[in-house]
Amino acid sequence: MQTSAGNLCIGKVNIGDSPQLNAAHMRASVMELIRRIREKSAGIAVVGLGYVGLPTAAVLAARGFSVVGADIKREVVESINRGESPIGEPGLQELVRHAVEKRRLRAVLSAEEATQESDVVIVVVQTPIDGEKRPDLSALKSACRDVAAGLKKGQLVIIESTIPPGTTRRVVAPLLEGSGLKAGEDFLLAYSPERAIPTRTLQEIQSNARIVGGINEMSARAAAELYRSITSGEVYEESVEVVEVVKLMENTFRDVNIALANELALLCEALGIDVLRAIELANRHPRVNLHTPGAGVGGHCLPKDPYFLINEAKKHGIELRVIEAARQRNDGMPLHVLRRIEEALAAKGKELSNAKVAVLGIAYKGNTDDTRQSPAEPVVKALMERGVEVISHDPHAKQDFGGRFSSNLREVVAGADAVVILTDHDEYKRLNLEELKALLKGDAVVIDGRRVLEKERVERLGMRYFGVGC
Ligand SMILES: NC(=O)c1ccc[n+]([C@@H]2O[C@H](COP(=O)([O-])OP(=O)(O)OC[C@H]3O[C@@H](n4cnc5c(N)ncnc54)[C@H](O)[C@@H]3O)[C@@H](O)[C@H]2O)c1
Repeated sequence: MQTSAGNLCIGKVNIGDSPQLNAAHMRASVMELIRRIREKSAGIAVVGLGYVGLPTAAVLAARGFSVVGADIKREVVESINRGESPIGEPGLQELVRHAVEKRRLRAVLSAEEATQESDVVIVVVQTPIDGEKRPDLSALKSACRDVAAGLKKGQLVIIESTIPPGTTRRVVAPLLEGSGLKAGEDFLLAYSPERAIPTRTLQEIQSNARIVGGINEMSARAAAELYRSITSGEVYEESVEVVEVVKLMENTFRDVNIALANELALLCEALGIDVLRAIELANRHPRVNLHTPGAGVGGHCLPKDPYFLINEAKKHGIELRVIEAARQRNDGMPLHVLRRIEEALAAKGKELSNAKVAVLGIAYKGNTDDTRQSPAEPVVKALMERGVEVISHDPHAKQDFGGRFSSNLREVVAGADAVVILTDHDEYKRLNLEELKALLKGDAVVIDGRRVLEKERVERLGMRYFGVGC
């Protein structure tokens, strides 16, 4: 039986009297939910409409589901309801406009309301670390309380936020049970972390393999069915405890690998060897896959996810030394870039206190507008502390980190003593080097924190080139 909101009604039976009857009804309601997911008639709520939540909501809507998104930011809700994406993810603008026009997607300010109207609730709010690098689950807890207020029997709740080990069962389930309903018996609860990479989020949501952990088999099965309806990749069902750790292992692997590349870059610089050429050749080995060194690691995932493991390990008396050292190495890269800037200005005979530096790239990653934990922030701030006049540019993001900012590249570069590239935006790979040289003051100097320019070409044009790892 279905309610007007499309939810499954098992309330006519006094389930407290008979566990067997309750289990049988739950099974029947799960089968019904799976059928409705397959038919795309299940209503979906997405709580948290940020870099992951909005693309997820838009893809589900494009696949034919009726989606209601919830976010506590009024400007985000209003923008989506106008059919405008507040996020600069490629392809998202068109998808959001289309979904809103077709009335398959709308946004509300209340997760409780979105939950009441849906069969499946996906929670994908931010999960940062605090000043002591411990997990800050306040947004997740608050979202779970709001969902609990609207929760009904037969619903499926999926957590997509990246979380520390044990969080689904120890933190999320009790909060949702504040509704008076029992996880795994009255409602289903699963965890399925997002693996998509910004700038390719829409493609990857629809093609990546997916891991789904349930607090019981039925929860994993129902959640897996939802992801099978949006991704062409394999969907793996597991226990929630395994999946929580798998997601953190994935991002920790990437962070440690980047740290290794960064460490080798420092050595290669000292040896006068180009680290990129060395990595290219090392990666021809069938079992080697070194990542790319650079000015540092940013974004909302890699700088904090390894701490979820480090923090958990400490509770068990284990020090994750490799992982901690990798975090420190990556966090130290902006400082290394700063040293290269100092070196470059000194080579030009320029004092820091009366130098002007043009910073190209404020976003943490190429072709995105996301500036969270961007290496540009410590670089800009440290330069300003040293009395340098800093002017920044970014074709996608707007942020000054306390310096000056302009979207006009020529204006930013004109009269600067040095140019520092901190983001591998496509625009910077296509820089007109002749024009760059003409705009810079005195001997032209380029510090390439992302190795987007060809050293030989820059030098052939008579400029000095300082790259990370060469
Ligand atoms: N950004 C990525 O590339 C990426 C990739 C994989 C996994 N993740 C994980 O996904 C999660 C979300 O990341 P994100 O980058 O989308 O974060 P985000 O900050 O872009 O989005 C989170 C949104 O949730 C909203 N929110 C917070 N509390 C809320 C509440 N109680 N009710 C409703 N909305 C609420 C915020 O206003 C914000 O708009 C994190 O756990 C992150 O680690 C992110």
